[in-house]
Amino acid sequence: MELPGNIVVLEDPEDVAHAAADRFADLAAAAITAHGRFGIALAGGSTPQRTYELLSSEDYRNRVVWSRVHVFFGDERCVPPEDLESNYRMANRAMFSRLPIPAQNIHRMIGEGDPAASARLYEDELQSFFEGVSWPRFDLVFLGMGDDGHTASLFPGTIALKEERAWVVANWVEKFKTFRITLSAPAINHAAHILFLVTGESKARRLAEVMRGPRDPARLPSQAIRPVDGSLEWLVDKAAATYL
Ligand code: 6PG
Repeated sequence: MELPGNIVVLEDPEDVAHAAADRFADLAAAAITAHGRFGIALAGGSTPQRTYELLSSEDYRNRVVWSRVHVFFGDERCVPPEDLESNYRMANRAMFSRLPIPAQNIHRMIGEGDPAASARLYEDELQSFFEGVSWPRFDLVFLGMGDDGHTASLFPGTIALKEERAWVVANWVEKFKTFRITLSAPAINHAAHILFLVTGESKARRLAEVMRGPRDPARLPSQAIRPVDGSLEWLVDKAAATYL
């Protein structure tokens, strides 16, 4: 099975980070010109950190009108914002604390609250930002992929993979014995642009399975990401592309 989307193989993680930062800057400029704002959902984990750092560097910071940028999250761990596990903490240290993004434009998932209540609150926040539509249309969604094929906090065999109506779900992840808050696959799939960032040998076999193997999104949730009316691109390094 060939997944939809364009695969770009780059030399190493630094090149992937630069390419992702370029996509961010270009898509932000286009969205702000077209409709006055740029709504992005950030990925968590470790891979995108360098991209966020680059965006706050001299090379990129002046390419974006930060006052028009609205930052959301694709998922969050159920921890406080200062916890080492927090995706918000990672993005804040790498990006928010270094850039003039208005505080009200940073839309944090409340990881420290009751998961179901936080999911409902976040959905309300998205509904008021993307007012009057049946699905949110992010201008860009950054995604990573775990070595088990998960993306956002859509983990293999978890209930969130079956979600067809809610935009945001509190998802019990048995392997971690914890809830995660995550955008549902349809909420991601209605984005204008979806960009996976995947690097490292540890992801190589799974990436090949996701891209070329039989379609089985319950086991390989990254396969559930198929844009309804938008673009999908994979920025991967040579190590992750070993088996492609
Ligand atoms: C998270 C992420 C998750 C991440 C993958 C890859 O909250 O952990 O949203 O989906 O993108 O687990 O993580 P790495 O980039 O650390 O390999």
